[in-house]
Amino acid sequence: KIPHISLCVSATDFEAPAKAVLSHKAWVYASSSANTGLSLRKNIDDWSLINFRPRVLRNVGDVDMRMSILGHLSELPFYLSPMGTMGMIHSGAEPEMVKGAVRKGIHMVVSTASSKTTEQIMESCIEEQKWLNNASPTCLFFQYYIPVNRERAIALLKKAKAAGYKGIWITVDTPVLGKRTADRQLQAEEALSVGLLDVPPAREPGEENAFAPAFGGRAVPGQLSPHTTWGDLKWIREEWGGPIVLKGIQCAEDAKLALESGCQGILLSNHGGRQIHSAPSALMTLLEIRTYCPEVFGELEIFLDGGVRDGADVLKALCLGATAVGVGRPYLYALAAYGAQGIGRCTDILAEELATAMRLLGITSLDQARPDMVNASRLINE
Ligand code: FNR
Repeated sequence: KIPHISLCVSATDFEAPAKAVLSHKAWVYASSSANTGLSLRKNIDDWSLINFRPRVLRNVGDVDMRMSILGHLSELPFYLSPMGTMGMIHSGAEPEMVKGAVRKGIHMVVSTASSKTTEQIMESCIEEQKWLNNASPTCLFFQYYIPVNRERAIALLKKAKAAGYKGIWITVDTPVLGKRTADRQLQAEEALSVGLLDVPPAREPGEENAFAPAFGGRAVPGQLSPHTTWGDLKWIREEWGGPIVLKGIQCAEDAKLALESGCQGILLSNHGGRQIHSAPSALMTLLEIRTYCPEVFGELEIFLDGGVRDGADVLKALCLGATAVGVGRPYLYALAAYGAQGIGRCTDILAEELATAMRLLGITSLDQARPDMVNASRLINE
């Protein structure tokens, strides 16, 4: 039913096989985006507005792609982005993704809305590490949706800490769920098919169960709080006591606030184009930060995700000052079609593209990536 895995030679090649194996419902959940799809398109398109400025004759025989995320060595400067309810995508769910990540020595951020418990997912990481004689540097971070109920919120942090997660990535771009158009369409079709002519209305911002109707997946445990503010970072920091990254920063002012709030990192992201309509791409936000608060570069680790489909994209981000890059849907599609093997294959493809791009750009290690190696003027003038 699906092509042999060796026929996947680009990160985008997993999409068609995934569509072939997934139920329509799961496909819609995975591929949908907000409103007219503009935010998603921009995520993909903006990478093409950056050009390299290659240097030649530089002895690029050996390349080293290793780096660290929050002090933890990674074989490559990209990681698996958190995605909820992977049980809909593959029977092995998140543990299957973890296996693939461990085999390649890259990190993974595990979603609060995972299909397996935080402990089960960590266990699968430890198991796979043992299998490889602990030769893999992979570690797991925990993506934190702040539950409404404070006790539950604290309990969730304690659980993640006890299980051995190395940092939390607080998702801040989801006070309410964005309008996922394809999901709404499917909801309406399903309602009509059972003779229900009135589809329940969309949830209003501010409702406590803002995340509960998330189509296709189960509700986020404890559900999301739309009332969270910068002030809440104080108790979270105290309860967690470890590194914090804010996931979903979309402008320079908030990058600065993140720095002032004592975070260790920010992830420039618009949630894969699934939240606000007409969001800036993470690349645009990165350029904005370079202009308006360059001081954060020396102080925070700066991650970025959205639309990364080629290893060369990773290098563009690193040239502009990013620490590492997150990859979402390509891994989801690879998981759907080929399980852990797909995660490995997708990683190898991106790694090879990155290594080739580094050599052709004239560098042999990631710390040599510099802003003058790219021309971002088309994106700046947009
Ligand atoms: C996501 N994303 C996400 N983010 C998050 O913080 N918590 C979550 O549970 C999820 N769940 C989720 C499910 C699915 C199906 C997708 C596609 C995305 C967003 C994700 O972490 C990341 O920001 C984007 O996926 C990156 O964009 P690309 O690589 O998919 O283009």
